[in-house]
Amino acid sequence: MARQRPAPELPPCYAIVQPGLEEIAGEEIAQRLGGEVKKTMRGLLVFRVPELTPELLELRTTEDVFLLGWGTDQLTYRAEDLERIRRWTSHEVRWDQLLRLHHGIHPKPKGKPTYHLVTQMTGKHGYLRRDARKALAQGLAGKFPESWRPAEENAAIEVWLTIDGPSAVCGLRLSDRTMRHRTYKAEHLPASLRPTVAAALVHLADIRSGQVVVDPMCGAGTIVAEVLDAHRAERGLTVLGGDRERAAVRAASANLRRLSPALLACWEATRLPLADLSIDRLVSNPPFGKQLSNPEEIGPLYRCMIPEYDRVLKRGGIAVLLVSEAAVLKEAARAAGWKLLRQVPMQVLGQRALISVWRKPF
Ligand SMILES: C[S@@+](CC[C@H](N)C(=O)[O-])C[C@H]1O[C@@H](n2cnc3c(N)ncnc32)[C@H](O)[C@@H]1O
Repeated sequence: MARQRPAPELPPCYAIVQPGLEEIAGEEIAQRLGGEVKKTMRGLLVFRVPELTPELLELRTTEDVFLLGWGTDQLTYRAEDLERIRRWTSHEVRWDQLLRLHHGIHPKPKGKPTYHLVTQMTGKHGYLRRDARKALAQGLAGKFPESWRPAEENAAIEVWLTIDGPSAVCGLRLSDRTMRHRTYKAEHLPASLRPTVAAALVHLADIRSGQVVVDPMCGAGTIVAEVLDAHRAERGLTVLGGDRERAAVRAASANLRRLSPALLACWEATRLPLADLSIDRLVSNPPFGKQLSNPEEIGPLYRCMIPEYDRVLKRGGIAVLLVSEAAVLKEAARAAGWKLLRQVPMQVLGQRALISVWRKPF
């Protein structure tokens, strides 16, 4: 009997995530793909998946996913790093294998393929970003067919080098801009959440079919859209959203147009037109202190909002809230008798914020 060759091992993947969401993204990778996180750095996860399928591109809490070429956490910050970048890129990566895997997910483009190099650099290094890019380009010399042309936009292949302090990863990008921006976002408001952050809130809400979910301060509807999009296969889900600003409700309505229907309303979140004990999941990001004309209003707002949320939540219901003023929120939630299940610190637009998950007692 002919001996079968063992399948060559898949290279690891990595994902870029919003700093703070690493653990949640790791949970999503495990649940959806049966993947296993191998290493976590600030804003980045290296993971393995049992097989490479287009489902990888459906992750919701990641900004981008890549096939890993090489990675290190031992950069020296000195110019000698450039020689390493060149050498690792040239000698330590099977670019032919990565390209084959990339083509397995994205059909090979017609005509002459184009490629684009992206270099990101954070931290004070003794060389410039353009020097790192040059080292990357030198390491890639001869790795792609001669006929391939460089392109600044819409290239078929993107090779990324991301340097953050002593760490760096280099790989082939599998996702495109629709992973982080989605396809539903037609309207954007200044305080709109990134879809990946909204997706993290929705992940934490543990939504089940048949439930009633509400975002009482929905702004442009990012959370509502993420609930609908992530749970499109589920039956009987009722999703409600509202905001006191008409312009926000209009923006939400435009963003939800291509998703399944949600009930949107212009309302005051501290006097919701909803029955007592009628909501299973409440997922929201109330305004941050900075977004109010007077930051002193944040305490009174949270103290009015939580008793109202408590009134409409069913016993055992879950609230997931992203706020900047965590101490005020905790005080109000504890006063309502809610139990804190989990908290995830993160940054939103450079500001410290906290996602907290609460259960109303049975
Ligand atoms: C941080 S934004 C929400 C952003 C939203 N998650 C998105 O992605 O677009 C907060 C929203 O709360 C609304 N808001 C503030 N106070 C409110 C209140 N008392 N009742 C209803 N909506 C309120 C604001 O109009 C604003 O749209």
